Amino acid sequence: MTYDQGTFYIIHVLAIIILSGLTFVAFANPVEAQRRKVLMASGISSLLAVIAGFGLSGSFKYGFPGWMIVKLVCWLGLSVMAGIAYRKPQKIPALAGITIALLIIALYMVYFQRFSGVGTNWRRRAKARPTPQTNAGGIGLRHCGWQPNPSPKMKPITAAGN
Ligand code: HEM
Repeated sequence: MTYDQGTFYIIHVLAIIILSGLTFVAFANPVEAQRRKVLMASGISSLLAVIAGFGLSGSFKYGFPGWMIVKLVCWLGLSVMAGIAYRKPQKIPALAGITIALLIIALYMVYFQRFSGVGTNWRRRAKARPTPQTNAGGIGLRHCGWQPNPSPKMKPITAAGN
């Protein structure tokens, strides 16, 4: 894992956490007095999340795989939620449910369901990904021995990379 990739990871995940938090601030208290500050901060964190996401994709040479297109749709949905909450506070319960669903789908995509798509070469990346056996540094749950249940579509990664 290069320093750049580590930095992109931190920015990406932190920005997603802040964006989600601010969205729930808008859900909890959609008052006009806070609207401008919350929307500005959520806009900035939304931008940072997507820039770092593409940064990661570029550094891993993923191209534009299907799972990332799904994540992009989730990110877009998450990014507009706070604005809708201020405009239509009566819809907040439904918006909260949709937001949680979007987050679950995005996390499921990155941890369990990477499917191919346009210009994908995640298989080469997966082969190159350090496994607990090789333990070649890096961040993320997988590097502390956690292994996701291999989805039927994902070929389990072996130390030999087959
Ligand atoms: C709601 C939206 C999103 C959520 C919740 C989310 C969450 C995450 C998380 C938690 C990781 C770290 C995975 C790990 O520990 O290895 C990650 C990695 C990543 N995300 Fe996102 N993300 C979102 C949107 C996006 C978007 C819009 C893009 C692309 C523009 C993107 C591209 C990536 C890439 C390329 C990685 C690296 C995957 C790898 O480790 O091989 N994500 N994302």
